[in-house]
Amino acid sequence: MTPIPENTLRNAAARRGLLVGAAVDSDALTTERDYADVLAREYNAVTPENVMKWMHIHPDRGRYDFTAADALVTFAQQHGMEVRGHTLVWHSYNPAWLEQGSWTRDEAIAELLNHISTVVGRYRGQVGQWDVVNEAIAHDGTLRDSVWLRTIGPDYIGLAFQFAHDADPAARLYYNDYSIEAPGAKQDAVFELVRSLRDGGAPIDGVGFQGHIESVTAPSEATLTASLGRFAQAGFAVAITELDVRVSVPANETMLTRQAAVYQSVLAACLATPRCGAFVTWGFTDRHSWVPAFFKRRGEALPFDTQLQPKDAYRALVKELQ
Ligand code: XIL
Repeated sequence: MTPIPENTLRNAAARRGLLVGAAVDSDALTTERDYADVLAREYNAVTPENVMKWMHIHPDRGRYDFTAADALVTFAQQHGMEVRGHTLVWHSYNPAWLEQGSWTRDEAIAELLNHISTVVGRYRGQVGQWDVVNEAIAHDGTLRDSVWLRTIGPDYIGLAFQFAHDADPAARLYYNDYSIEAPGAKQDAVFELVRSLRDGGAPIDGVGFQGHIESVTAPSEATLTASLGRFAQAGFAVAITELDVRVSVPANETMLTRQAAVYQSVLAACLATPRCGAFVTWGFTDRHSWVPAFFKRRGEALPFDTQLQPKDAYRALVKELQ
């Protein structure tokens, strides 16, 4: 068995004032003791991988199910961890009653308000940051099609931030998206979106960079630092919210070494950006990861292996924090 470094990730991160988090699979959390142990030992923040998404937490109109979300928030409190709420408004993972309803604009706004005020209100003071709107921009920089864009129109985004702020004025509110780690049409569009939201008075605090990246094509540390800095210099907090670094599977030593370097460079970019306050990976163990199901012949994307032993990526992260 590989020895666990005495200096855990969370201890090293705390010394740098950084939240180091992981998305949590709630089934694994309740059924696998070793999973819960490593999570609590190594991380000081959690994101629910799925259980705060609309389909889970608000499965029927007028009916909420907080069971799994409550359990995760309680776990976080017991272990001195922050919670990043994920996510209030998304084009995906919505229940059929919402997607297939025929809503007028006013009805859709009322549903959005009910959802956000109920969910954010329940965790007021317990969830410090929310991914309020997730993935609203398409690859080409246009607004992505969604039930919200169709029923409410582009101002659904500003409304969502306002509703979240009203439900918990102390929570830090984020716009969250992927493929904005490098410059391009999508990053430009997200930049314009969050700037115009803020200029229009929307209570937006920050931008989450998901960071689902492929090891061999990962942006360089300089590119990442410039991208984070672009938003930070415009006055936004930034965070790495869903990092995973996928490789071809089965991975060999060379690939895992390269992966570790990518993890280290993303963390270095965050540490070099004064307004980057959180570094969150999408899972922490290759035992539970969305990558193999979503990316053909890719996997082994996280800092712990399937046996919950630290990989080179883990050691690179601890080293970077020291
Ligand atoms: C993914 C989960 O990891 C999967 O378990 C689920 O089936 C689909 O959603 N961007 C996001 C996350 O913001 O919520 C997604 O999570 C991954 C991509």
